Amino acid sequence: MPTFNHEEANHYDERILRLVPGYELLHQATAAQLATTLSDDACILVVGAGTGKEIIELAALKPSWQFIAQDISQDMLDIAEQQFGQHNISDRVTVHCGDINDINTQCDAALCLLVMHFVEDNGDKKTLLKAIHSKLKKSSNLYIADLMRPETAFERESQLQLCTQLGLTEVGVERMRHNLEHEFYPLDRIRFSELINETRFSTPKQYFKVLGFAGYVVGS
Ligand SMILES: C[S@@+](CC[C@H](N)C(=O)[O-])C[C@H]1O[C@@H](n2cnc3c(N)ncnc32)[C@H](O)[C@@H]1O
Repeated sequence: MPTFNHEEANHYDERILRLVPGYELLHQATAAQLATTLSDDACILVVGAGTGKEIIELAALKPSWQFIAQDISQDMLDIAEQQFGQHNISDRVTVHCGDINDINTQCDAALCLLVMHFVEDNGDKKTLLKAIHSKLKKSSNLYIADLMRPETAFERESQLQLCTQLGLTEVGVERMRHNLEHEFYPLDRIRFSELINETRFSTPKQYFKVLGFAGYVVGS
């Protein structure tokens, strides 16, 4: 997995737009569903909150929502905290670096965007999903987006082509090609559904798909 420390953290915000085609739309589509389903006093758990992208957007959408920003990279969360300060939302966000199980709040929704594909399917994905489930109130939704296994023989190459069209350099494309092969743990739809089912979430409903990246909503 990329380290998400130091330089990787510092350059994350500009690079991710070229690495994940539809990144902005994924976040907007997720936000729209939260806006139509959650009450004004909702608390949202953001797993792998990174530099705070989701929270900044959601906080602007509904000024009364509260957030928990969880991640395992202190460097990413440091940038997130700076940004929360700049957007005057620090008092609405509890920042948590480390294990989800140490969080003591039951939340109304959870986001896990572009995170679980870095977690191995050796029991670790299941552990992560179970931990998220345990922090959700009954009948709440988890929005989860990941790199999936390719569905056509040309999907990965087309994805890299799209990254080029979005401005990724040749070196960047080669690094991404290597990462797609070696740094991600993508699932196919069947294995994803199986894991979701084993961790007591409801049948996944897809709401986003751009080549390899897919987003699903599942109920707790
Ligand atoms: C590609 S970034 C996504 C950040 C943010 N969700 C977004 O959409 O921009 C992946 C983030 O997941 C974090 N991460 C990786 N494994 C994790 C885990 N097991 N639990 C929580 N966060 C994790 C990384 O530190 C990194 O900040």
